[in-house]
Amino acid sequence: MWPRRGGYQAVFLDASLTGRGATARRGKGSVKDAAARRTLSGGLHQRIALWYLGPYSHNWALRVQLRRPWALTISKAYGVFYGNIIRTDDAASRWVRAVPEQATDSTGFCARHDLGDGMKVAGLFAGIGGLEAGFAAAGHRSLMLCEIWEPARAVLAARFPGVPIEADIAQLHALPGDVDLVVGGFPCQDLSQAGRTAGITGKRSGLVGHVFRLLDQNRVPWVVLENVSFMLHLDQGRALRTLVEEFEARGYRWAYRVVNSLAFLPQRRERVLFVATTTDVDPADVLFADDVPVPILQTSLSTHAHGFYWTEGVRGLGWAPDAVPTLKNGSTVGIASPPAILLPDGSAITPDIRDAERLQGFEADWTKPTETSSRPSLRWSLVGNAVTVPVAEWLGGRLARPGSHQRDRDGVLDADGRWPRAARFDGDHRLKVTIGGYPVWRERQPLAEFLSFGGKLLSARATRGFLARTDRSTLRFVPGFLPRLRDHLAVMDEHQRGTRYHSDLQAIAAE
Ligand SMILES: C[S@@+](CC[C@H](N)C(=O)[O-])C[C@H]1O[C@@H](n2cnc3c(N)ncnc32)[C@H](O)[C@@H]1O
Repeated sequence: MWPRRGGYQAVFLDASLTGRGATARRGKGSVKDAAARRTLSGGLHQRIALWYLGPYSHNWALRVQLRRPWALTISKAYGVFYGNIIRTDDAASRWVRAVPEQATDSTGFCARHDLGDGMKVAGLFAGIGGLEAGFAAAGHRSLMLCEIWEPARAVLAARFPGVPIEADIAQLHALPGDVDLVVGGFPCQDLSQAGRTAGITGKRSGLVGHVFRLLDQNRVPWVVLENVSFMLHLDQGRALRTLVEEFEARGYRWAYRVVNSLAFLPQRRERVLFVATTTDVDPADVLFADDVPVPILQTSLSTHAHGFYWTEGVRGLGWAPDAVPTLKNGSTVGIASPPAILLPDGSAITPDIRDAERLQGFEADWTKPTETSSRPSLRWSLVGNAVTVPVAEWLGGRLARPGSHQRDRDGVLDADGRWPRAARFDGDHRLKVTIGGYPVWRERQPLAEFLSFGGKLLSARATRGFLARTDRSTLRFVPGFLPRLRDHLAVMDEHQRGTRYHSDLQAIAAE
């Protein structure tokens, strides 16, 4: 279980390096916090490849970047310190164990939150494992995965080696007996169908019905579901009502909340996180323990990158300052639909798939394994379908260490009205919860610096089409945006003329 004694050099990263230049300044640094310093002086660090003191969500990314076999992560994201020793030899790092008693000092540093071995997870509708990778980073462990789509299965097989992967949930007879947590982002339309049938577990209830079939055989204490925020409005709210009734009928308390990936990374992406449990833990203490106000970003076209959908431009744009709009799942036949990014230098690009993976919190090339059997362009669909990894890591961290829900956030839930952006069921009553979509705000690089792989210039054809649509639309654009795109088009046209001239010359030379 433990790293081999001796022989490891400690690497210190200090909190001020998080998110920026950490790899570049690898080596001996300083640990500023007095409590952490006292613990480090206990000597444990000599056995560990990496010490890291900093905000929780960066741990995973740093471990991957540094490619060290073991990491000790020390975090104080929730106002208290805790430490994890994590094996990092595969991307879906396994939780190993919490820092032992002898590593603590009189402040209780590290010992306060002993996660044991984390929860044992069954990942249904696993896709490329965004939820499962985030939960692994928070110390939980996948025992089985279920995913029907071959391109996604190829990624899971490479990224979660040794974890059995079932195919069709309809053929899955039972969950492993010792599972603590079922997670899954089921296809949203399916809920609609389920809502219209007599009962969600009825014959035609679709895929989500299978989740309840499996829970009826094995009353797993925790369930986490994820879905698009449209789920709240589907069938005028009837679909979600059916879902919560099914959980309540089985004795689960539940809570849900819309969370924005922008809290963690430069991607605007709202998703509903739904947590249900039969345990004594209040799911509200998991989902609603963290909330920060949305920071006001000072951006301008000449200093920051701006994301938008070049395929739109009539009714909407997906405009995102210093971020990309929600990465979409594209089509299952592999027509990629990346957003465009207008860079501060005036060029417009579409990002590289590896940056799209990073914008979802995955390591670059996470989905590359699918290329051995499927079209490379399918990687866009896989990434667009996924759960943002640090969102799952935050939730996984809170499942392991619930905080406390402030009851003054509770309000009356209108029985037949629209579902609010957050709500809960305390065992007796359903309540509306007033809370934002940002559990935390992680400091990050500006998008223009975050992008590591260059991307492709937005073609003259795509830019011209977009500009033509904006001419017809009544949308209002940020001053300077359209002129910059017109300049980009002029450069692209010039470039194309140059290339044509060049190939004409080559053709003449070859004659
Ligand atoms: C919204 S995606 C989930 C994405 C995933 N949470 C991730 O982070 O990558 C839903 C997934 O359900 C899968 N799916 C659809 N029907 C299924 C079935 N009958 N059995 C198992 N998986 C299925 C789809 O192939 C798709 O990958």
